[in-house]
Amino acid sequence: MDRQELSRIAHTHHPIAAPLDDANVAALLRRAVRRGDERVLDLGCGEAPWLLRALAAHPGLRADGVDTDAGALTTARTAAEQLGVAARLGLHHRPAAEYTSPHRYDLVLSVGATHAFGGLLPTLAAARTHLAPGGLLLLGEGYWQREPDRAALDGFGGATRDEFDDLPTLVDKLVAEGWFPVFGHQSTQAELDDYEWCWTGSLTEWALDHPTHPDAAEALARATAHRNGWLRGYQGTFGFVTTLLRRAD
Ligand SMILES: C[S@@+](CC[C@H](N)C(=O)[O-])C[C@H]1O[C@@H](n2cnc3c(N)ncnc32)[C@H](O)[C@@H]1O
Repeated sequence: MDRQELSRIAHTHHPIAAPLDDANVAALLRRAVRRGDERVLDLGCGEAPWLLRALAAHPGLRADGVDTDAGALTTARTAAEQLGVAARLGLHHRPAAEYTSPHRYDLVLSVGATHAFGGLLPTLAAARTHLAPGGLLLLGEGYWQREPDRAALDGFGGATRDEFDDLPTLVDKLVAEGWFPVFGHQSTQAELDDYEWCWTGSLTEWALDHPTHPDAAEALARATAHRNGWLRGYQGTFGFVTTLLRRAD
């Protein structure tokens, strides 16, 4: 089954493709969008839920989203048209590392998408090239809440210990690169669990709703394997933090 299609189905009931609830998404956007006339760039935007919310709330805001998933961008475009914000949203189908723009941005987002640049440090470097002076970066990244054991690593798709840091080490790395957290939100265990129940549940429901579809058995197997990896492995070990960052310069 196509990985992007699977991900889209799995996010049916959780449009933000990261473990954050609506209230915390709104709170982070309130802190990140300060004037309302900002230019905003989302590197790895998916269906662009962050941008759509910001555009709907601020009629003077303009935004660009970049993603390699054409289907997600089509969904974003349809939603933007329905919301009446499409004229202020540019959607770019390409690897984030290849995105260039004639202007800089007041706010850059990378939420659950540092893999688009091959990790945290290259993501920070890329964000810096896109940011206007005084701009902000909203970064959502995983971390280990406690030392991962074998079951947690295996459950997380065969992750390695060094794929994530603990939270203090992650913050130290940000500061060492010249990025200062001015706000942040650690996803609660309820948000993390809700995300996993939505992900595995939506995929399960799709498989049950389409029993004759050639991908149904695989979708059910993937949902089951993911749920087992989470419940028997990384639940309580994997965490997620979304920080609003500013540079000293
Ligand atoms: C976990 S989702 C997060 C989506 C969105 N930021 C959100 O919070 O809902 C990660 C996104 O990164 C995108 N992605 C992965 N590799 C990419 C790349 N090289 N360039 C651009 N986007 C990429 C995926 O297609 C996916 O939409």
